[in-house]
Amino acid sequence: MTEITKNTDVAVREILNGNVIALPTETVYGLGANGLKKRAVLKIFEIKKRPAFNPLILHVFEIADIEKYAKNIPDEVYMLAEKYSPGPLTFVLPKKKIVPDIVTAGLDSVAIRLPAHKMFREVLKETGVPIAAPSANMFGKISPTTAKDVFRELNGKINYVLDGGKCKIGIESTVLSFIGNKIKILRPGYITKKDIEKVIGNNFSGKSKNKNEKILSPGMLKSHYAPSTPLYMIEDTALANNLKNNFGVINLLKYKNLRAVAYNLFEEFRKIDNPKYEFAIIQKVEEAGLGIAINDRIEKASVGKIIIFNGNLRFRIK
Ligand code: TXA
Ligand code: MG
Repeated sequence: MTEITKNTDVAVREILNGNVIALPTETVYGLGANGLKKRAVLKIFEIKKRPAFNPLILHVFEIADIEKYAKNIPDEVYMLAEKYSPGPLTFVLPKKKIVPDIVTAGLDSVAIRLPAHKMFREVLKETGVPIAAPSANMFGKISPTTAKDVFRELNGKINYVLDGGKCKIGIESTVLSFIGNKIKILRPGYITKKDIEKVIGNNFSGKSKNKNEKILSPGMLKSHYAPSTPLYMIEDTALANNLKNNFGVINLLKYKNLRAVAYNLFEEFRKIDNPKYEFAIIQKVEEAGLGIAINDRIEKASVGKIIIFNGNLRFRIK
């Protein structure tokens, strides 16, 4: 049985004992273990059923910690970290030997982030170790944004969930790579391309366009974050409203801005599984700013598109 607790001492103890514990961050809940202990990190993969080729993010307390685990750190990292860390920005950098291969899935690079949540920071400070943590969901499922979400999915598999309330941001961090003398967004997130440009100028590329390139960030797999009810994208949810099918509608237009959409997005994904519909539809948001990360998650959560033809729904599976 898993216990939900608000006591950070429990989390400190679990990490130091080599156990895995769910921890709150400002983005989504993470499933953390001592990032320097191979056996502890292995447990994360086992619990999540995460494929071994998918590397984890190493969470650290302060900017000075980055160079403990990464080398050849360009100035841009410090400029960005000073502005956005602690916060939802992850730096992919050449790794130092001290980081076990299991954390990086055998890559020469390591992803490092300073989480902003007070409780997570306390655990980092008290344990004095970096914490490797993916999102606290089973592989391929929706990232959890509350302690209850974690509990429902991982009950019995971990001893504790540290309850830090609902995650303020609601979608995962932006993953920014500094490998190979270029700066590239591997996963769009809360920190937008514009936010990055404000600090380091526009001398970097956005998403990788080269299809021949190996998947650099396995989180970029096409399907991810998926509800079990098949979700379809539609141009305009209103168009489907007078059709008499039993389907769920995720209406993002009711939120007052994109931040509110991000904050509620994964909860909306969860809602269409309970009660269960045959399928559900969703309309993307405007593809700009934070909308890029939101649309990325919608793409990954959906199985295809629906178009309306002569008053009938036509399904286009990806
Ligand atoms: O907001 C977040 O980033 C959350 C919280 C818990 O910090 N974590 C999270 O972790 O979303 P995860 O494991 O679900 O996603 C991490 C992403 C994956 O897409 C992974 O492939 C990528 O980061 N990643 C990790 N290490 C990498 C590396 N060395 N090179 C390229 N991509 C890497
Ligand atoms: Mg994840």
